[in-house]
Amino acid sequence: MDSIEQFNLDSRRNVEGMGNDQALQALANAWFNGVAPYKYSYNFAWMGRPIIQIPQDVSAMQEIIWSVRPDLIIETGIAHGGSLIFSASMLALLDMVDAIEANTTMDPRQSKRKVLGIDIDIRANNRSAIETHPMASRIQMLQGSSIAADVVGQVKSIAAGYERVLVCLDSNHTHDHVLAELEAYAPLTSVGSYCVVFDTLVEDLPADMFLNRPWGPGNNPKTAVWKYLESHPEFEIDKSIQNKLLITVAPDGYLKRLA
Ligand SMILES: C[S@@+](CC[C@H](N)C(=O)[O-])C[C@H]1O[C@@H](n2cnc3c(N)ncnc32)[C@H](O)[C@@H]1O
Repeated sequence: MDSIEQFNLDSRRNVEGMGNDQALQALANAWFNGVAPYKYSYNFAWMGRPIIQIPQDVSAMQEIIWSVRPDLIIETGIAHGGSLIFSASMLALLDMVDAIEANTTMDPRQSKRKVLGIDIDIRANNRSAIETHPMASRIQMLQGSSIAADVVGQVKSIAAGYERVLVCLDSNHTHDHVLAELEAYAPLTSVGSYCVVFDTLVEDLPADMFLNRPWGPGNNPKTAVWKYLESHPEFEIDKSIQNKLLITVAPDGYLKRLA
């Protein structure tokens, strides 16, 4: 075994060890309880736009995008645009890598790779900041509910022109809404790619953290994922990602499409 294989084997063993360490999992949840009053996930930005994610999940998304090399990333939930800008910047890097490998130069505005964002309420200031951002040429936005038939239809017809599709669900976090999003968008995920469902963590946190929200333990993205998987064996939870992150808002939310 060479040193790289040994490194990877050690890493896999350590990740598996963390996944089996219940005390460590409890510490991670306690950490979330501790940072919640400070709205931890609202304090980061990507290329100047607020991104409502925690750095651990952003890091996992980078690894997924590098391994899948998608040409389309579909995201529900735009907010300030940080996650759209992040995805677009990763697609820009993939274009750069393609150009280096092909020994060509490329005009980024000619790239086919795209991020498609959907939000029920794209505020004027957010829209303007996204549309004037250097990553804007790779971003298309649709306004409307992500589960409205006309929006789903538009997304499906856009996705039909792409081969490698990655899906991220991060809008309304109720069970019914996320289940409807999964029914609509998970089938667009390419084989080998992921449908990432954010905020599944709600299931594991105390109910009093969500008193002013329509979701909470028992009614959230994780319960929707579990329900969806009952009849969709073509997806499996990639536990290696949450075991590695330990601190993630998407436990049981990294769904890999197997077939
Ligand atoms: C958590 S934020 C998204 C954060 C963003 N993905 C990021 O990482 O920066 C949730 C967004 O979902 C949007 N939203 C809520 N209900 C929705 C619905 N029914 N359809 C589409 N978007 C919705 C909200 O307007 C809000 O902008």
